[in-house]
Amino acid sequence: MIDSTPRRLHLLEQYEDGEDSRHFSLRIEQPAASDLAAKAGQFFMLTLPGVGEAPFTYVSLPDAQGCFTALVRRAGRLTQALFDQPAGSVLGYRGPFGHGWPLFFNAQPLLVVAGGCGLAPLAGVIEQASRQAMPARLSVIYGARHSGAQVLGRERARWQQTLPFIETFDQAAPGQRQGTPLLHLDEVFAAGPPAALLCCGPEPLMRASAEACLQRGLRADRIWLSLERRMHCADGLCGHCYLGSSYVCQDGPTYRYDRYLQLLGRSSPISQAPPALFC
Ligand SMILES: Cc1cc2nc3c(=O)[nH]c(=O)nc-3n(C[C@H](O)[C@H](O)[C@H](O)COP(=O)(O)OP(=O)(O)OC[C@H]3O[C@@H](n4cnc5c(N)ncnc54)[C@H](O)[C@@H]3O)c2cc1C
Ligand code: FES
Repeated sequence: MIDSTPRRLHLLEQYEDGEDSRHFSLRIEQPAASDLAAKAGQFFMLTLPGVGEAPFTYVSLPDAQGCFTALVRRAGRLTQALFDQPAGSVLGYRGPFGHGWPLFFNAQPLLVVAGGCGLAPLAGVIEQASRQAMPARLSVIYGARHSGAQVLGRERARWQQTLPFIETFDQAAPGQRQGTPLLHLDEVFAAGPPAALLCCGPEPLMRASAEACLQRGLRADRIWLSLERRMHCADGLCGHCYLGSSYVCQDGPTYRYDRYLQLLGRSSPISQAPPALFC
């Protein structure tokens, strides 16, 4: 039987981290082995007593004390109420859920493309690459509407020391790069074609990035997206998170691009994927 009872989660600290976004430090009381085995790209359900429950991704994963961080953008009732919570508040936690990013750091260059808050689910992957002896193997293109809309300020400052990290803006100030992440793909491909793309952001950006990478020779089974859908149970019971015949809470939120197209009943205008390599 599925146990959907939230466990106790302590709010340690929160600070502003981008327009309408805050960075939360949290601690799971008595973390379980499954919490410590959480993977970058997985998500958890946060309960605010008397308000409700919502899914969020881990920015940093739970450590042995159960401490982890999350980036939350103000959207509506629950997120606003969460912003109003003081340090020391006791919240609820369920997780980890879903499938994280495939971690194929086997000497192959990776490309991360993120838009807005979509940088948060990719933080674990970037952090891992920046700490390992292969940081140059991962390149990031991060797009935001303007610099005030960027998130993960402290993390970006650190990553920029070790990784090729392109920042681009819809409304660029003088000296900043202008345009969507797509405009900067050629620069990354010219430096060495990536073996895989991990992408998170608004769905149109993810689809456009995937297609642009296909056009540049990357195969559909080397492209991964992370999807957001309305979620209630996160246990594959309520059906709120359907993507075709798939439950995003169970099978996602990360999907290989060829599988994503298949679930949508579409095919890529660019190419068909050869047999799967990674799952
Ligand atoms: C797997 C997953 C991971 C997520 N990770 C994060 C994260 O790390 N940080 C973060 O800030 N948010 C994340 N979200 C989104 C977050 O769950 C919603 O913003 C939150 O549920 C909004 O709750 P609310 O009560 O404040 O707003 P509501 O009043 O429920 O909604 C406000 C507005 O946001 C829209 N909305 C709410 N939830 C979603 C959704 N899932 N997809 C699309 N639109 C939605 C509503 O339609 C409405 O227009 C994630 C969602 C999923 C499915
Ligand atoms: S959220 Fe209920 S089935 Fe996915």
